[in-house]
Amino acid sequence: MAKSPAARIEALVPELNEHNYRYNVLGQPTISDQEFDKLLHELTNLEAAHPDLIRPDSPTQRVGSDLSKTFPTVVHDVPMLSLDNTYSEDEIREFETRIRRELPDEKLRYVTELKIDGVALSLTYENGLLVRGVTRGDGLQGEDITPNVKTIQSIPIRLKEPIPYCEVRGEVYLHHDIFSAINKDREKEKESLFANPRNATAGSLKLQDPRLVAKRRLSFFAYFLRAPGESDPSHAESLDRLERLGFSVNPERRLCNTIEDIVAYLQKWEKKRETLPYNTDGTVIKLDALDQQQKLGATSKSPRWAIAFKFSAQQVQTKLHRIVLQVGRTGVVTPVAELEPVFLAGSTVSRATLHNAEEVERKDIRAGDTVILEKGGDVIPKVISVVTAKRSKTSTPFEFPDTCPVCDTPLVKDESEVAIRCTNSQCPAQVKANIRHFASRTAMDIEGLGIALVDQLVDTGLVQGVGDLYSLDFESVAALERMAEISAQNLMDALEASKAQPFNRVLFALGIRHIGATVARTLTDNFGSIDRLRETSAEDIEAVHEIGAAIAESIHAYLQDETHWALIEKLRTAGLTFEAEQKADTGPRILEGKTVVITGSLTRWGRQQAQDLVRTHGGKPTSSVSKKTDLIVVGENAGSKKDKAEQLGIEILDEEAFARLVGEADTSL
Ligand code: IVH
Repeated sequence: MAKSPAARIEALVPELNEHNYRYNVLGQPTISDQEFDKLLHELTNLEAAHPDLIRPDSPTQRVGSDLSKTFPTVVHDVPMLSLDNTYSEDEIREFETRIRRELPDEKLRYVTELKIDGVALSLTYENGLLVRGVTRGDGLQGEDITPNVKTIQSIPIRLKEPIPYCEVRGEVYLHHDIFSAINKDREKEKESLFANPRNATAGSLKLQDPRLVAKRRLSFFAYFLRAPGESDPSHAESLDRLERLGFSVNPERRLCNTIEDIVAYLQKWEKKRETLPYNTDGTVIKLDALDQQQKLGATSKSPRWAIAFKFSAQQVQTKLHRIVLQVGRTGVVTPVAELEPVFLAGSTVSRATLHNAEEVERKDIRAGDTVILEKGGDVIPKVISVVTAKRSKTSTPFEFPDTCPVCDTPLVKDESEVAIRCTNSQCPAQVKANIRHFASRTAMDIEGLGIALVDQLVDTGLVQGVGDLYSLDFESVAALERMAEISAQNLMDALEASKAQPFNRVLFALGIRHIGATVARTLTDNFGSIDRLRETSAEDIEAVHEIGAAIAESIHAYLQDETHWALIEKLRTAGLTFEAEQKADTGPRILEGKTVVITGSLTRWGRQQAQDLVRTHGGKPTSSVSKKTDLIVVGENAGSKKDKAEQLGIEILDEEAFARLVGEADTSL
C-alpha cells in the first residue's frame, strides 16, 4: 500500500537533508543530481498539496519567500568579540610566552586554524532546529538574517544530534569560482562589480530576497560551539563535535604542542594560501583547553587566549610585457602595465595602472621586467616594485614620449598636476573616450555603443566626434564588419531613445572638464538652458553656491569656443535637449537609500564634491561608520573607519571603483 503523504514527507525530509549534507558539507554525494531533484520534486508536490504538513526542517524551507524590508536587531547572548591581530611572528612568540607565564606548570596545547576572510555569523539552535542566524554587527548586537541564512546549504537546518540549545559561530564565505561567476553575471547586467569575495558575501547576506541569496551559493565554516550544560573540555573536541552535528569545519586545523609547531603552521599557510579555493587573511591560534581559556578571560574587545596572525597583502610576481599609454577623455596620458595574466587574491589580473610618469620613473619600471604585484583586501592591483635581479641586461628605462602616442601632438605637463596631457581635442583616442563617455550609462545611456563599436566607428571614419552619432544611418552601421543587422537596428533605436535625455544629462555627456554629473545638475538647475549659460560670465557662474572658480572657468571657456558651440548646435538640430524642463532628473540613482561614508583623501573630488555625488545618486553621505552604513569609499590613507567597516563586513570601494559606479571614471581600465 502506498504510504500516506505524512509518512512519505516524514521519510523524504531527513533523506533529502542527508543528501544535502553529503553534497555540501562532505563533498561526497551518494546519488546523482537528477535523483536528488526527483526526490525534491516529489516533496515539493506533496507539500503543495498538504501545506499543513510542511516541516520547519524541510529543505524546501531553505528558500522562504517571507520578504523582510529591514532586518530586526538582536542582542547577542554572549558578545561576539574580535581577535587581536599581528603581522609579526615575534608577537606570536610573545603571546605564547605570556600564556606560559600566566598559567605556569600547566600543560598547554593550541589549535591553529585558518582565518577565513568572510563574514562572521552566529546561529542559534533550539531542540536541534535552526531558529536564528544573526550577523556580528557591532559585536554586541547584530541583524537577524535568518531567512537568508537558511539558504546556505552547508548550514544544517536540523542538527544530527538533538541538543536542547546551542549557539554555533563561524564564517560565511564564497568560493573563488562562484565569486567570479557572480561578477561575470553582474558585468553582463551592467551592475557594479564586487571588489572581492568578502564584499560579495556581505552584500549577499543583506539582500532582501532570500531567493537571490540562494543563487549566490554561499558557504559556511563553523569554528565555535557553545552548548550550555554539555560543553566539551577542549576547543579541538568542540570542532570535532561540530562536524558530527553536521557542520562543515575547516579541515586545515592542527593541534600544536609547541611554539615551533605553531610557527611552522603560520609559515606553511603564508606560502600555501593561494592554493585554497577561498580567501584567507591569516591564521588563528587558540588555546585548546576551555578551562584554561576561562582562566585567561577576555578584554572588552578580544579574548586573551587567542590571537590572529595576519598575512601580509598578497603578492605575486609576473612579467610586465609592455607599458602602454592610455589617452583619457580629457587628454591625460596614463601609463598602463600589460601583464602576463596572474591570479591574485580572488581575481585574474592582466592590466594595472602605473598612474603617471613620475611613478614609472621612481620605481624604474621597464617593459620586459618581472614585477611584484600586490593586492590588499579591496584594492585594485598595484605594481609594488621590480625584481631587478630578473631584469634583462639589454633593458632600457621607459621613456615617456614627448608627443601623443595616438596623434603625435606634443604633450604638455600641467603646472599644478603630475598629469601629462595631449591638448589636441581631435585626437582619435580622446574622440573615442569622449564618445564612450557620451554614451555611458550615467550620461546619454546609449545601449550597444560599447568600446569595440566606438573604435570601429572612429577607425572607419564613420564618426569623427560625438556630433556625427545622430547622422549615422542604418545601412552604413549594418555594413560594418561583424555587425549583425539586428545590432545595427538596436543601435539606431538606442540613439533615437537617447534624444529624450534631459538637459543635465546632455550637459554632463559633453565631457567638459570638471563638469561631472553633480555639477551638471547644479548648472542646469541654476541656469535652465545652454543659451543662458553661454551668456553668463565666469564670475556669475562662480557666484552659484557649490561652483568653484575652476568649474566656472572651464564651462565658460568651453561655451565661448566656436568649435564647441558648433557641436552643440549640431546636437540641438539632431533633437537633443538643451533646456531644463522643470527640475533636472536625478540620474539612475545607483545609491538609492544607501548610507555612504567617504574616508581618506580622494584624487578626483574634494570631500564636499564626493558627498554631493553620493546625494546625486540617491545616497545619504554620513561621516561615521556604523552597522547602518551600506558602503564606504576609501581614499589614500584611510584609517580606522576602514578597519571598522571591515569588521562590520560593509562593502568597501576604492576611488576607482566608486568612480566607475557613479559613471565618472576617466579610464577604461
Ligand atoms: S575565532 C573571539 N576563528 O575573524 C574570537 N575567527 O576578528 C572569535 N574569523 O570576527 C573568532 N576565521 O569573523 C575565529 N577560524 C576562525 C576565524 C575567525 C575567520 C573572523 C571572524 C572574527 C574575526 C576576528
